[in-house]
Amino acid sequence: MPKRKPKSSGGLHSIESASRDEISALQLKRLKWSVKHTYDNVAPYREKCEKKGVHPSDLKQLKDLAKFPFMTKSDLRDHYPFGLFAVPREKLLRLHASSGTTGKPIVVGYTMNDLNNWADLAARSIYAAGGRSGDMVHVAYGYGMFTGGLGAHYGAERLGCTVVPMSGGQTEKQVSQILDFRPDIIMVTPSYSLVIAEAFEKMGIGPDQISLRCGIFGAEPWGEGMRGEIERKLGIDAVDIYGLTEVMGPGVASECIETKDGPVIWEDHFYPEVIDPQTEEVLTDGEEGELVFTSLTKEAFPVIRYRTRDLTRLLPPTSRAFRRFAKITGRSDDMLIIRGVNVFPSQIEEQILRDPRLSGNYQIIVTRDGHLDNLEVRCELQPEVSGKINAADSQTLAKDLQNHIKTIVGVTTKISVLTAGTIPRIEVGKAKRVIDQRPKQV
Ligand code: DLL
Repeated sequence: MPKRKPKSSGGLHSIESASRDEISALQLKRLKWSVKHTYDNVAPYREKCEKKGVHPSDLKQLKDLAKFPFMTKSDLRDHYPFGLFAVPREKLLRLHASSGTTGKPIVVGYTMNDLNNWADLAARSIYAAGGRSGDMVHVAYGYGMFTGGLGAHYGAERLGCTVVPMSGGQTEKQVSQILDFRPDIIMVTPSYSLVIAEAFEKMGIGPDQISLRCGIFGAEPWGEGMRGEIERKLGIDAVDIYGLTEVMGPGVASECIETKDGPVIWEDHFYPEVIDPQTEEVLTDGEEGELVFTSLTKEAFPVIRYRTRDLTRLLPPTSRAFRRFAKITGRSDDMLIIRGVNVFPSQIEEQILRDPRLSGNYQIIVTRDGHLDNLEVRCELQPEVSGKINAADSQTLAKDLQNHIKTIVGVTTKISVLTAGTIPRIEVGKAKRVIDQRPKQV
């Protein structure tokens, strides 16, 4: 059966085709509001500004933002759970959370206006991907504290689509529901889309028999090679959606189907900068560095110069009036993304050290099996127990550690318990905790 053609409806918001002057004027107006709102209502940020000797009244042009201090993930951790909120808790309609560098997650919140803007921007992103009112959207991002599921969900509803809130996992059910309901669009991590594609292949169902017309993929890095593979296997257009919990969730930036040339930053709501991660200097467009975002309209959890740790470069506008960024090439911290879940080695270390029989020598091995990432944690027994622990105890120890990591960090790991002294020691420089054997994204 041929894929359904999209009905044409809706259209671009006027700001998406405005001139640079109009965009800059709107950004400056909103930026002044956002910086003042944060300064007035978020005490830890005000203290940072005072320490640096800057005041919201110093913000006269967009480039003055460079005088202001950054916010980082550790600020969120230090003020867990609600210390950086700019409105009273009673004004929050929803909370979401994401991994922090330790066992505690980082928590964000949204007012009614924030949720409205988020739904608008997620809808704008789906529209950019070719989605239209009347389309059916299968959401296979996880629902829950992760922003993927609900972010995509409300965006699709806002656009006037029929949403299938499937969430992640249960591949057989995903496949049968896609066959029975005949959705037009899928929103899912790129790695999981290939698992779904393989399930179709195994059933002998070819791309022409799959109703999907387009897929909107994000939450983890993926390259042009993967784009080609997904498009071929599912017979769809594959576009990139970017976002992060701290800044909003999915829909901070999203790719246009007509150009597929990098996510367009929704610059009327987020002001981007790219900085040198070492010197913290702002770089010119086109130079590679760390992406930094300032929210322009967020009420509950405004971010000023939030360091995303994602490495990329800003690109000039093409299909929309806003700037884009190139595919993310890596991160300036040690965060790993395993099956869409953010994982910090320090979180795993914390779980290992809960057991006094284990030493602080460990290694995390990341491999890719087909399209999915696997994580093995190799840990070492303390010399005094090494050789004295029987196989059953060692197995229980491994199972307990696996459970703790699953509960706290959210990923399933393979645990190897090794005898003391097995893990190579680094004599000079830093210990190499993570061995990432995944092929590079191209
Ligand atoms: O991953 C939000 C999201 C959900 C985005 C669904 C897109 C689709 P976090 O869990 O906070 O939020 O993870 C944010 O994931 O800093 C990037 O390192 C990475 N990431 C997100 N989207 C992309 C993408 C969600 N399109 C972190 N390409 C970010 C590459 C991405 N990396």
